[in-house]
Amino acid sequence: MTVPHVPGVHPAWLPPEAFRAAGARRVLVLGDDSALAATVRAEVADACERHGGAVAAPGEACDLVLALSSAGDLPPAVRALREPEPGAEGFVLGRADGVTAVLADDPAGLLYGWFEVARLGEAAFGEARPATAHRPALRRRMLDHWDNIDVHPVMGQVERGYSGGSIFWRDGALRADLTRVRAYGRLLAATGVNAVAINNVNVHTAEAHLLTDRLGEVAAIAAELRPYGISVHLSVSFASPIVLGGLDSADPLDESVREWWARTTERVYETIPDFGGYVVKADSEGQPGPFAYGRSHADGANMLADALAPHGGVVYWRAFVYNHRQDWRDRTTDRARAAHDHFAPLDGRFRENAILQVKYGPMDFQTREPISPVIGAMPATRLAVELQVTQEYTGQQRHVCYLGPMWSEVLGFRFRGPGEPTVAEVAAGGGLVAVSNVGDDPYWTGHPLAQANLYAFGRLAWSPELGPAAILDEWIGLTFPGGGELVRGTLHEMMDGSWETYERYTAPLGVGFMVRPGHHYGPDVDGYEYTPWGTYHFADRDGVGVDRTRATGTGYTGQYPEPWSQVYESLAECPDELLLFFHHVPYEHVLRSGVTVVQHIYDTHFAGAEEAAGIRLAWEKLAGSVDPALYARVQERLDEQVRCAEEWRDQVNAYFLRKSGVPDARGRRIY
Ligand code: GCU
Repeated sequence: MTVPHVPGVHPAWLPPEAFRAAGARRVLVLGDDSALAATVRAEVADACERHGGAVAAPGEACDLVLALSSAGDLPPAVRALREPEPGAEGFVLGRADGVTAVLADDPAGLLYGWFEVARLGEAAFGEARPATAHRPALRRRMLDHWDNIDVHPVMGQVERGYSGGSIFWRDGALRADLTRVRAYGRLLAATGVNAVAINNVNVHTAEAHLLTDRLGEVAAIAAELRPYGISVHLSVSFASPIVLGGLDSADPLDESVREWWARTTERVYETIPDFGGYVVKADSEGQPGPFAYGRSHADGANMLADALAPHGGVVYWRAFVYNHRQDWRDRTTDRARAAHDHFAPLDGRFRENAILQVKYGPMDFQTREPISPVIGAMPATRLAVELQVTQEYTGQQRHVCYLGPMWSEVLGFRFRGPGEPTVAEVAAGGGLVAVSNVGDDPYWTGHPLAQANLYAFGRLAWSPELGPAAILDEWIGLTFPGGGELVRGTLHEMMDGSWETYERYTAPLGVGFMVRPGHHYGPDVDGYEYTPWGTYHFADRDGVGVDRTRATGTGYTGQYPEPWSQVYESLAECPDELLLFFHHVPYEHVLRSGVTVVQHIYDTHFAGAEEAAGIRLAWEKLAGSVDPALYARVQERLDEQVRCAEEWRDQVNAYFLRKSGVPDARGRRIY
């Protein structure tokens, strides 16, 4: 095992410098013969070699010890950490008598402890610290790749990918050199991520074969990610028994179909014994599913769960099921209702190893949505919450949009009010999943500052209560070592509020969409208004918004428990930022903030575009303080962000001025 360093690829939050504090010291590893313990030993050796420290042998004096609780003869510094218990994947970190110690019950904990020491830097070797347990709050912390083997004519190789091609495949074949995949695994492990699904949820023909005759490619990827504790998952087509198996049905209750899945899954585990499981998008946007056979989604998920169970695998069954061919004239169908309508009645009917994967909002990864009511409605089902690190609707990695604050709000939301479980707690036994933003771009994420979103996702999946600004601060410290206060302060200035800035210059007050159909970049207020996709804002000369109330609308508010059901139903209580998601109101309606809806639209759009310009200006302070190539890359993206923010401002403002006839109270220029 060697630590992967890939020339020409930005090291993200793991530059060699991040390991200086530990690598300059004497480090003892007391592990076992597992692959993960070997990784920790390799990491330590690599860091010590670079920074002049030494790998200590048992019995020798050391400054840092990383030990498994099962290792015999623990030195006193480690024995002192016996309490509290580390727990699965966790570790206890403390410092006493001049020795920093990490104790773990399993090798994964040892690896996470090592990266925590890197995060702390010199602080890990300063004052004494009491033994503190670090345990992941969510059991499964997974990134979904929407990578294809082939290049799709419209979507490119990575669906909704804004960072170049796939890191796994190139020219229709697995890449010959997978060092970069290992480096990716290392980056993810340093944030706490422990699972990856490698291919697109829309499973096209070539990718369907990964399950059978192209399984060797999956095994090769798994071999690269395994040393960093990451298990590999595959998106599979529900129609696989037909497409790959030559059967004439994929009916989940048909014995021959069930047998096909059992046999196929067995072969997967013969090849990849620690394979994680399947991800399935069924009956969704044209993908095949159990509805074709008159079966429920519990029937479909359970069939796969049964095939996986003997091997310890899980199926992530996505709840993103809605009618994407609705008639825009039909006001009774509400896309927001669909997942709850389909899945809530199935609560308690899913197997133990079936995880229902629910997007955080009821629509589709918008900048602002209420939390999906499905998450609060299925106490007897294992749930995973799905986020989108790739910025499909949040600026496509051309705009700076740090999503930590949004995810933090999502994870901390309590369906039944104060004192009741948070979304993170509801998902603890399932997991947190996100669509990856990584590609073969030299900066991994297209926009170098979008790396912070990938970092924040992993950290929040491990510790949902961490503050987004604190996470950003960690990321800055690791990624720009020696950057000093100028870099730190400037990046906070640019990024802390960037999600809200993005929200200000795009679709207002939670109404969503207003993006260009298809690629979803830039403004097009009516782009989706008369389409079959169910994403409407209903603006007319008098007002705007979607009436989702029980009293006069689609009844969606009734999918929430109290207090939210009432809060969202009430025009007076509904939070401003979600007003147009729940209510259709006149332009002169006065928000809780005291301004009218239309004036709010004007004000926020002028402010948002101005803030975007401010972000660009702030970056100029860093000329000469960060790597010139990285500086130039960010600058070029900021130019585009400012241009695009102005376009959003002008189109949205012009649209609402023309619809409403209400002038801007401050007389600014609207076209
Ligand atoms: C969005 C996105 C699609 C994706 C889908 C999904 O609609 O635009 O590209 O396939 O979400 O999550 O399945």
